[in-house]
Amino acid sequence: MKEITLKAPATIANFGPGFDIFACALESPFDVIKIKKKQTDSIRIKVSGVEEDIPTEAENNSAGLAASHFFKEMNLSSGLDIEIKKGIKSGAGLGTSGASAAACVYGLNQLFQTHLGYDELIQIARKGEVASGSAPHPDNVAGCLYGGFVLIKEHSPLEIIKINPPQIPLVVCCLKKTVRSTRRKIPYQFPLGEVKKQMSYCASLVHALMSGDLKKIGQAVNKDLISEPVRSQSILKYKEIKQKALRAGAYGCNVSGGGSSLFAVCEKEKTEEIAQIFKDYAQKENLHGDIFITWSSPSGIRETE
Ligand code: HSE
Repeated sequence: MKEITLKAPATIANFGPGFDIFACALESPFDVIKIKKKQTDSIRIKVSGVEEDIPTEAENNSAGLAASHFFKEMNLSSGLDIEIKKGIKSGAGLGTSGASAAACVYGLNQLFQTHLGYDELIQIARKGEVASGSAPHPDNVAGCLYGGFVLIKEHSPLEIIKINPPQIPLVVCCLKKTVRSTRRKIPYQFPLGEVKKQMSYCASLVHALMSGDLKKIGQAVNKDLISEPVRSQSILKYKEIKQKALRAGAYGCNVSGGGSSLFAVCEKEKTEEIAQIFKDYAQKENLHGDIFITWSSPSGIRETE
């Protein structure tokens, strides 16, 4: 096998209260990544489908960096041609860097017949996230690989649990971050009272997902004391737009991953109305938002023709 083409879904990491431990894969958008073995030792990366410049030097690109880690850990070396066709907007908190990293190690595992399991692949792919100025958080890459809803059970050694949720309708207001990463602004310590609340939010979400109750899923997604207070600060009139979505019938609304996109969980019949609220908001505030309706995807990375 000399080449492989993969479809890698967008993900909403944190999914409300699960900072660095929860992620949900989306049916759309997705990136398409083609990886070809080469006779040389260099990794060449080509990116299309985006307006801005995405770094193509291996060490500054999440797929290239993940590939270098893969070769190092597998004690292999090879040249590669990696073509990334972005369907997921970059810098919007929808997991596009994780998708490239995850698809790359998934593809290399196939091309080099290294037979690594998903959790081992995630352990390598997460290191690719560093290329986009983030920490090696595993949530986006895990959600992208497994699909469905994932929770990080153990960080070291990495252990993931996949939950197959019911189909969750999602309305996304895709907004680019104005700063590269807000992650450093998240406090390292929280009072015990807040830790207890956050544990309740996370446990409630997992319970809601397991029982398949969309209303309860949305209500649990709506609360977060770790990421939302920080990430929402860079979203213009966040509280106002969140309240509007909730008043219109969304069960929950929160910031996707590192922001600045926001997402709402609602009944399928409500998706158009919530999308219109997001559209009006983006237009009024001149935000160049990309508003779309999607739902949770049961599947993660897949091979395509
Ligand atoms: N858990 C990560 C964060 C996700 O919140 O920084 C980034 O998409």
